[in-house]
Amino acid sequence: MATIVLLEALPGTLYNTRCTKLPITPTTPIWASTTEMLLVAKARLKYLVIACIATIPVLYFILYQALPDTFSSVVSSKGSLKGRPGGKDGAQHATPSLAKVNDSHPISGLIEDAYARFSRLVGKRSWSLAHAAARYRELRGRHPPPGFDKWFEAAQSHGAIIVEEFFNRIHHDINPFWGADPQEMRHQARAIPHAIRVRNGKIAHFKDDDADPPRKDRLELWEKLVQDMLPHLPDLDIPVNLLDEPRVLVPWEDIARNTAKEQTSRHLFPPNEAVAEHTSFLDIDTDPLQPFDPEWIDDRHKYWDYVSRACPPNSPARKVQPIDPANPIDDVFPTIQNMSYMVHGGFIGNFTQAQDPCLQPHLRGMHGTFVEAFSMVTSTKLFPFFSGSKLPINNELLIPDAMYLSSETRYSGGTKHGGSWAEKKNGLVWRGTASGGRNQENNWWHYQRHRFVQMLNGSAITLVQGGDAGAGPTFNLKATGLYNVSAPPEGQLGPWVGEWSDVGFNRLDCWPERHDWLGRLRLDCPYTDPFFALVASKPMAEQYNYKFLPDIDGNSVSARWRGFLLSTSCPLKATVYAEWHDDRLMPWLHFVPFDNTFMDIYAIMDYFLGGHDAEGQRIAEEGHDWASKVLRREDMMLYMWRLLLEYARVLDPQRDRLGFVDDLTTFAST
Ligand SMILES: *[C@@H]1O[C@H](CO)[C@@H](O)[C@H](O)[C@H]1NC(C)=O
Ligand SMILES: *[C@@H]1O[C@H](CO)[C@@H](O)[C@H](O)[C@H]1NC(C)=O
Ligand SMILES: *[C@@H]1O[C@H](CO)[C@@H](O)[C@H](O)[C@H]1NC(C)=O
Ligand SMILES: *[C@@H]1O[C@H](CO)[C@@H](O)[C@H](O)[C@H]1NC(C)=O
Ligand SMILES: *[C@@H]1O[C@H](CO)[C@@H](O)[C@H](O)[C@H]1NC(C)=O
Repeated sequence: MATIVLLEALPGTLYNTRCTKLPITPTTPIWASTTEMLLVAKARLKYLVIACIATIPVLYFILYQALPDTFSSVVSSKGSLKGRPGGKDGAQHATPSLAKVNDSHPISGLIEDAYARFSRLVGKRSWSLAHAAARYRELRGRHPPPGFDKWFEAAQSHGAIIVEEFFNRIHHDINPFWGADPQEMRHQARAIPHAIRVRNGKIAHFKDDDADPPRKDRLELWEKLVQDMLPHLPDLDIPVNLLDEPRVLVPWEDIARNTAKEQTSRHLFPPNEAVAEHTSFLDIDTDPLQPFDPEWIDDRHKYWDYVSRACPPNSPARKVQPIDPANPIDDVFPTIQNMSYMVHGGFIGNFTQAQDPCLQPHLRGMHGTFVEAFSMVTSTKLFPFFSGSKLPINNELLIPDAMYLSSETRYSGGTKHGGSWAEKKNGLVWRGTASGGRNQENNWWHYQRHRFVQMLNGSAITLVQGGDAGAGPTFNLKATGLYNVSAPPEGQLGPWVGEWSDVGFNRLDCWPERHDWLGRLRLDCPYTDPFFALVASKPMAEQYNYKFLPDIDGNSVSARWRGFLLSTSCPLKATVYAEWHDDRLMPWLHFVPFDNTFMDIYAIMDYFLGGHDAEGQRIAEEGHDWASKVLRREDMMLYMWRLLLEYARVLDPQRDRLGFVDDLTTFAST
């Protein structure tokens, strides 16, 4: 308990990392959960030292109580919005004010396109059950699942903006399961530890026999979300991933076979053949438990091999081997601007593709996930498994990241979303830990966060431009030189970046971990110390005093993203991870996408700082406004509910006749 207070009293220390480690090393008081504290205590009971450690949180607690509550609601998040909650509120989005950007810069064109695409998309909003069901049939080629009416009713009562396309991800994720045997999947789901179980409108969760299950809080946060829709759910077993890293990666050919089966099973059968009741779980529950072995693989140094097999046969990723981490970054850094997802000028035109490692073989040497992840517990079999984040090619069923459901300030940023644009510093800020995997002496320059912090460090750039190539082992200035950056005079990139960039690590996350004599995790790291200075953390509320907030992957997604979108600053995003909300956010309208190589970052900042301040402000405001309408807890609940209805159907032996058809029969009889 006291440690939670400590975390809040030192905001910024941890919120970049999602407490990503497994196994959690019970060594640092800052990290410690109550259980870990107990472990520490047990291990060191003999030492008086522990008594001192234990008093630190208490001291902080007392201190914290004495301080004013910095995160109390000053601006009511709802009160600051233009529209009323619910009702016709979303209508203003059917015609967002068009950006009248009047110049020939490629980014201006991208912003204009984004407005137009978004207007068309939101124009498809469903205001009635009949419309929602019709759009479902049009896009999915099936009747909606049973319970669709109750779901839509709840969506309306929450004032949710329902556009069928916002749920594309659910179908992308669930479709391969139409190619698997429903009864077998029910057994698999029942057999996996770490699950939420729904029976007869009651809920329970199950953990491993392991006395200290990792990330138990995630399970509980998800369970609470499921609770909100419980009266409307059929019986279910919902096995969840408690690690940061995704866990299911099935070879492309197997998935292709399954999705082909899904295609042929689509059928809009006559309404009078529809079944509304799910098949009972009685046989599953009374059967002696049939074991299921996902055959977990731990092959961290070769993760790329498994990724590559999950990519399409003709994709670039399929053709390359994992890198030798000893090699320099120049061996992989792409020196072309014409990736398939880029528009003229090298900016991202298709963010979905820009997230896809299959199209970017160089990422095997430019992202910790592929170099050496923190943990790998991966299966190549398809079975039901839910996860808060995954690579586009992973086969989990994606749900909102548990940390988005946490009210802890280090993830949510609290109730403040930042002040007005004009009051903000005209620059970019980033704080975080050097996570992303097990960075080591012989591979650290391949990790994305190390690259980002060096590329946004004016002094490091100046050294490299001055001829000291060894000063910038993480990046390649030749690649970034492909972009037009008009602001800095020749050779002055470093000083120019130094004017507006404020980035740095607050922990260097060495591997193997090092501890001081009190057993606390050391924040520094001998092999990266010459390149990085530890800087003080900044609470999210303070970061909101800057105009530009870039967000970079850690061990998987960064749990700050929702907070950034909700803020009044302009968020920027580079990621290889997919999230539940991707289909409802429009790049270049709600946030600024940038490449996972980061080679476009200078040109992007040159655009916004060099005469396009209004465009930055517009993205900040559009993002904030939209996020407060479609990224609410209610929206996450509705997404999960829709997914669970699909999931219940695809795991039901009667799935080919389960469907919601009431709208058709009512219509026919009137
Ligand atoms: C664009 O700018 C030019 C010159 O600055 C001006 O003549 C023209 O009317 C502008 N067009 C729009 C659509 O604002
Ligand atoms: C990209 O451009 C380079 C040279 O500028 C060319 O060799 C390469 O084939 C191009 N690639 C694509 C995918 O267009
Ligand atoms: C850079 O600017 C020049 C001149 O303005 C233009 O011709 C060229 O297409 C630009 N290149 C890129 C990659 O944007
Ligand atoms: C982006 O690429 C994906 C995958 O190739 C494609 O399905 C989608 O339509 C593209 N989106 C846009 C906006 O072009
Ligand atoms: C920036 O780079 C310089 C030169 O490598 C380095 O000494 C300094 O510690 C770096 N600063 C940060 C905040 O990492």
